[in-house]
Amino acid sequence: MWRRMSSSAPPKTFHVKSFGCQMNAYDGARMSELLEAEGLSAADSADADLVVLNTCHIREKAAEKVYSDIGRLIKREDGSKPMIAVAGCVAQAEGAEIARRAPAVGVVVGPQAYHRLPELVAKAASGATAIDTDMPAEPKFKALPGRRRQGPTAFLTVQEGCDKFCTYCVVPYTRGAEVSRPWAQVMDEARALIEMGAREITLLGQNVNAWVDEGRGLHDLIAAMDRLPGLERIRYTTSHPNDMSEGLIRAHGEVAKLMPFLHLPVQSGSDRTLKAMNRSHATDSYLRVIERVRAARPDIALSGDFIVGFPGETDADFEATLRIVEATRYAQAYSFKYSPRPGTPAATMDDQVPAEVADERLQRLQALINAQQLAFNQATVGRRTSVLLERRGKHPGQLIGKSPWLQSIHLETEAAIGDLVEVDILSAGPNSLGGAEAVKQAA
Ligand code: SAH
Ligand code: SF4
Ligand code: F3S
Repeated sequence: MWRRMSSSAPPKTFHVKSFGCQMNAYDGARMSELLEAEGLSAADSADADLVVLNTCHIREKAAEKVYSDIGRLIKREDGSKPMIAVAGCVAQAEGAEIARRAPAVGVVVGPQAYHRLPELVAKAASGATAIDTDMPAEPKFKALPGRRRQGPTAFLTVQEGCDKFCTYCVVPYTRGAEVSRPWAQVMDEARALIEMGAREITLLGQNVNAWVDEGRGLHDLIAAMDRLPGLERIRYTTSHPNDMSEGLIRAHGEVAKLMPFLHLPVQSGSDRTLKAMNRSHATDSYLRVIERVRAARPDIALSGDFIVGFPGETDADFEATLRIVEATRYAQAYSFKYSPRPGTPAATMDDQVPAEVADERLQRLQALINAQQLAFNQATVGRRTSVLLERRGKHPGQLIGKSPWLQSIHLETEAAIGDLVEVDILSAGPNSLGGAEAVKQAA
């Protein structure tokens, strides 16, 4: 604990800003609920008494954002000085180092300790720097207040952490070992979300398909959720190829509410690179999983993650990545330039790829992925499908919703946000599609 200059009044308003993955967004929502339960009210980042920066450590750019944000917060135009709390994966990775580098930071709290945020804020208000990056055995979920969020789509973290130790990745260090939340706790949270208006639930985990409780797997959980009245759609992300069980693959053909979408990262199409990445699967086994999933659900939309410029990646390795993309035919995919992360084995490997080479590969890969995305979207033109309306569009009367394949569909409608409507898809671009309402679905 480090002494800070002065004590301050306890904050009355707060703002949480999330930078990372969907689990990071989920944590951000839970922190907001916790602070609200403590009597604080939400405010803009420009005038909140407490600003929580819920950070991401996955790539260098994401991690650096926290320091530029702190710089902005200490130079507010009106001269006010918010209490700054750094949460999330940078907090876990850098801990006390953050307070040393940025003395304006009052609280540093890791992703497994944020249920203690109110105590930490109180400590910081008394003038101390409060740091908590413990990974307590007693999970935080039991200590958090009930869900307060509203809205048609909801995230629900069911699994956390990772035991896979890919050589480039910080997640096993920032999130800890794989832990599954117990069945009853997850089902209770799902029921609470539905009661508050959720019609779609996305089950989250760093390796969500590794979820397990007393011999039951993710497909059992999905089957139980399928029976919850009021819930219309189930999704899950992110999955590891080695944890795609037979039951989960079959669920894609059998469970009505499970949406035809699968995010299954492969990272590279070169077996040599996959080995250096410690991915513990090969291109062949990945393609076999894809084949089985397609057999279970022929119209499934596939998504993935790719890293280019991993240490030692040759032109031939990269060409192999283009080939696996061609073979898989993605509906969408994310691709990243390899970013060396402190403390990971890959950061000190020989043969780091020059930035210009990685940039050029990234552009070629993204051009291919974009073309596939457009082709996928165009192939759905003419279909009639259900759309869950999520938000307002730019034009009056326009709403934006998602198709079962996670495409953004724009349409003019008198229906309300949260409604599930039948839509004819009329046009397609790379990132969004246009549709017209067919018949309203009975509730
Ligand atoms: N658990 C998931 C992904 C977690 S991180 C999985 O294994 O698939 C999300 C994505 O970020 C990864 O799939 C990977 O493509 C990318 N990523 C992780 N570490 C990275 C790094 N050091 N540099 C570039 N991209 C990285
Ligand atoms: Fe990171 Fe690999 Fe774990 Fe995914 S499986 S979180 S990429 S270590
Ligand atoms: Fe980032 Fe942590 Fe998620 S590093 S991607 S916020 S698990």
